[in-house]
Amino acid sequence: MSSLIPFYQKLDVDFIRGEGCYLWDEAGIRYLDLTSGIGVNNLGFSHIELNNEIRAQIKNYIHLSNLFKNSWSEKLSDQLVKITQLHASFFCNSGTEANETAIKLAKLYAYEKDMKNPKIIVMNQGFHGRTIGALSATSNQKYKEKFGQLLDDFIFVDFNYIDQVIEVISKNNICAIMLEPIQGEGGVHIASTLYLKQLRKICDQYQILLILDEIQCGLGRTGYWFYHQKAEITPDILTIAKGLANGLPIGACLVNQAVNNLLTLGLHGSTFGGNPLACRVASKVLEIIERDELILKNKQKGEYFINQLQSKFTSVEGIKSIRGVGLMIAIELNETIDDMSQQLFSQHKILINITQNKIIRLLPSFLIEENDINFFCESLYGYIKKIKNV
Ligand SMILES: Cc1ncc(COP(=O)(O)O)c(C=O)c1O
Repeated sequence: MSSLIPFYQKLDVDFIRGEGCYLWDEAGIRYLDLTSGIGVNNLGFSHIELNNEIRAQIKNYIHLSNLFKNSWSEKLSDQLVKITQLHASFFCNSGTEANETAIKLAKLYAYEKDMKNPKIIVMNQGFHGRTIGALSATSNQKYKEKFGQLLDDFIFVDFNYIDQVIEVISKNNICAIMLEPIQGEGGVHIASTLYLKQLRKICDQYQILLILDEIQCGLGRTGYWFYHQKAEITPDILTIAKGLANGLPIGACLVNQAVNNLLTLGLHGSTFGGNPLACRVASKVLEIIERDELILKNKQKGEYFINQLQSKFTSVEGIKSIRGVGLMIAIELNETIDDMSQQLFSQHKILINITQNKIIRLLPSFLIEENDINFFCESLYGYIKKIKNV
């Protein structure tokens, strides 16, 4: 029996090695991983160049206090600023911390504007993390109901319905709108380009901050560096984390110049945030994504993946919808199939994640190849046919 607090339901397997998009267990059996640590191991396991960066850095030091200049965090910030067209970055250690930072900045913005009872618009089915602020902005009641009074700064609206946003703005003092351009945990729901453009316009019109959480859908996964770039908009605040350092803990909150102008010494901080090890690896991750043209390849691989799924499953009983962008894909089932992840794991040696009980969420590594995609489609088809007895 493990002494870990059972917050997670875990597969009973000890993976001892990983390479690319595969993991191996103690018996030497290979598994195709379509979860990538929930969107973290974007460049796969045991990436040689990233391992070399880690080795080189630990010879010097792992941690350096934020009291000293740190050229790796400066370099990473410059790279991110260039990619996002934003102005400055703050580094922390996780997605939820990046969102805590964004929420604090929205509250600061309201304070500086002397707003009475300011509120932040957030989305139904949205997920922003598990700390109190980010949890308050998250819609799933199951995650919130036992924790008493959370922050009352948030008003929830339906994702992709601009009229609801307009109505809430007409009745409240809104300082920010916060959303994931593609809702991950909620089941891969995609904001329309029109909706993103309309949100930007409304935020400009009413001087509201647009906060985009691209913690799951950002960093090249969707065939764009950041999915909002498809709509040719720029947020005021952007949060990222997960795959940034391919597995070393890191998060970032990026801001535009106007928000940056509000920020002063000592207003926020993090002991580990911006540590040179994570920043050095993250800097290399960005270089590799660019050098190897992975964004374009993700777009092409995603199109291939979705085509394969659609041609195989469109008329299969039990499949409600197939959707996605790039390598962020959902297969929604009509009903929960108990034990599905366990069965795909034990029978087919495939690792998947299921969200909202009946949505298979695929977040493969950027290194996935067509033969892996074909193998998954065949295996899933065989499995579903078997349980449906067709
Ligand atoms: C969109 C989004 N925001 C925030 C988070 C929280 O990130 P973390 O688990 O690193 O705190 C997640 C994690 O799944 C996420 O998908």
